[in-house]
Amino acid sequence: MTAVHNKKSPDLEGYYARMAEKHMTPLWTIMSEAVPDEPRPKFQPAYWDYDGDVRPSLMEAAGLISAEEAQRRVLILNNPSLPRGATHTLFCAVQLIKKGEIAPAHRHTQSALRFVIEGSGAYTAVNGEKTAMNPGDFIVTPAWCWHDHGKETDGEMIWVDGLDIPFVNHMGATFGEDYTLPAFRKASLQATRRQGTDPDFCQSMPQRRATTLRFSAIPTTAPARRSKNYAGTRKWTPRRGSNSNSQIPSTAITCCRP
Ligand SMILES: [Fe+2]
Repeated sequence: MTAVHNKKSPDLEGYYARMAEKHMTPLWTIMSEAVPDEPRPKFQPAYWDYDGDVRPSLMEAAGLISAEEAQRRVLILNNPSLPRGATHTLFCAVQLIKKGEIAPAHRHTQSALRFVIEGSGAYTAVNGEKTAMNPGDFIVTPAWCWHDHGKETDGEMIWVDGLDIPFVNHMGATFGEDYTLPAFRKASLQATRRQGTDPDFCQSMPQRRATTLRFSAIPTTAPARRSKNYAGTRKWTPRRGSNSNSQIPSTAITCCRP
């Protein structure tokens, strides 16, 4: 919007100066700044090379620190045009977990999403309810729910974490806590050995008021896999090298604006 008034006079200049001393601003002097004619993005597009930079760096971290020591073995993808975060509202990161590890339970006011890139045999548990993770799966973790991540089989699993950290920071509502009771870890380990929800474990968790959502990339039942209506039967594998024909697009972690 254009300024509704750009008149200049000694009296007006004096008025503006007095208003500034009183910490007041006449709207008509900043109208175009307050309500611009077109969007003004606060950040620039950014790109991270998964095969060349992200994955090797994560694998290096896997040899340096455990998931328990780090709490989360995570590399944050910082948009160079922002102080922190991939966008002005979203935090983006990649996380790696190895066989036998459990990233300890905690909860926070930020919501999270997980997009699994590679690996198998891992899970996300939300308030004790396990959700299996497979490549291509999209998993949502609600705010203020206890959650931990574990892996039972050989090898590593890597996924993208997305959280609304910058947005919640902007709202002044950022806080969280660690689950320190030993019972949680014991129960979590027990849950790890079972498939699906463990009722005893879930009953031991306070404030079970939300559940995890999981959108599977691969049918988990034989009838579903045989269905002619299932369009996504390609089980894609992790991209390696610079093969541009890979089924995993590099944009999977291109966070200019997810
Ligand atoms: Fe978390």
